[in-house]
Amino acid sequence: MFAEIVEGSTRLLVPERSLASPQEIKKALPPVFFNPRMKLNRDITCALVRALLAGGESIQFLDLLAASGAKGLRIAKEAKAEVHLNDGSESAVELIKKNAQLNQLSVGVSQSEANLFLVSHRGSFNFIDIDPFGTPVPFLHNAILALPPRGYLAVTATDTAPLCGVYPKACFRKYFSIPIRGELCKEVGLRILIAAIAREAAKLRRGTRVLLSHATDHYFRAIVALRSGRRRADEALAKLGYLHYCTSCGRREVELSSLPSQKKCVCGESYSIAGAMWLGELKDASLARKAAEEAAYLEDRRTQKVLVTIADELEVPFFYDLHRLARRLSLHELPTMEKILEELHRRGYSATRTHISATGVRTDAPYEVLLEVVRGLIKNS
Ligand SMILES: C[S@@+](CC[C@H](N)C(=O)[O-])C[C@H]1O[C@@H](n2cnc3c(N)ncnc32)[C@H](O)[C@@H]1O
Ligand SMILES: [Zn+2]
Repeated sequence: MFAEIVEGSTRLLVPERSLASPQEIKKALPPVFFNPRMKLNRDITCALVRALLAGGESIQFLDLLAASGAKGLRIAKEAKAEVHLNDGSESAVELIKKNAQLNQLSVGVSQSEANLFLVSHRGSFNFIDIDPFGTPVPFLHNAILALPPRGYLAVTATDTAPLCGVYPKACFRKYFSIPIRGELCKEVGLRILIAAIAREAAKLRRGTRVLLSHATDHYFRAIVALRSGRRRADEALAKLGYLHYCTSCGRREVELSSLPSQKKCVCGESYSIAGAMWLGELKDASLARKAAEEAAYLEDRRTQKVLVTIADELEVPFFYDLHRLARRLSLHELPTMEKILEELHRRGYSATRTHISATGVRTDAPYEVLLEVVRGLIKNS
């Protein structure tokens, strides 16, 4: 049984079961995968591809693991890019064809194992989207090899339990990095995912530049530009490093290095270490802003809001969670986010929100200053 929905401005037939609650879906899997909660992921990709096309790029988009075709067909319809959709499942490919017809779209469609498809289509697509069940790691190598010397790679990871430190061994096995639990787990997870891409690209002599990345809902997403060159590969690897985090007082230090050094927090406690991870930029701010403008055609305002927050977000690794801070300082109330940002600005520091957490503040102010600002605002309220 299929139901017709509209996402963005694309009509989609999707299994009725996929619109049920996650618990219901687990009881009996739908014949083809479709997750309505991944709409933001698809919206953001459409907006970004539109921004690239508006900037004069030409895009040959491969939706490698297309399922119902939701993402690739939306890219074809809403960004008007050239698109090919692939999936290993026969019922998925049937549905993709029906959905292409429903929207009168002319796209390429194939049924193939993803790695085999990549190996036999080198140089055919300059934008490859990997949207797997769980980790994208098994597809990275062949996807990077399949790209031309200048290409784009978009990667989704839904294995948040390993990346957020619930299963550190699984994270180390798949990503060769140590995750962390607690307030910084999502940002660390996102940076570990990007590091895995940058390392795989470097092996193949390509440099990585992040165009857009986000940790929203229940997954991580990174869209990067890859360019051939030994020097570019080395420059990307030089952006990898470690986080030293004090679970006792909340201080943190980042270290750009291939190996972490032994450090102690000024409070006397030992630091927890996470990494290696990407400590470079999490987006190209001007492209993110253009994508935000492009997202104006979407009825759902959330996408544009998230993109604006990402574009404005300060490029300082690791935000402070205000609720955590309140607990640490044994505060029963908190000043508003606006007041805190305003006071940090008044003192000459940069400070912004983060898309990762509604209660997170990114700032270049030292930790002591942030604590002083929060305490001071409460005293005067
Ligand atoms: C998470 S879904 C993709 C969701 C889709 N991009 C969307 O936005 O709705 C993953 C898809 O990958 C396909 N798949 C998984 N492993 C594969 C492989 N090794 N080769 C080809 N297809 C594969 C599955 O059949 C499934 O349809
Ligand atoms: Zn400490």
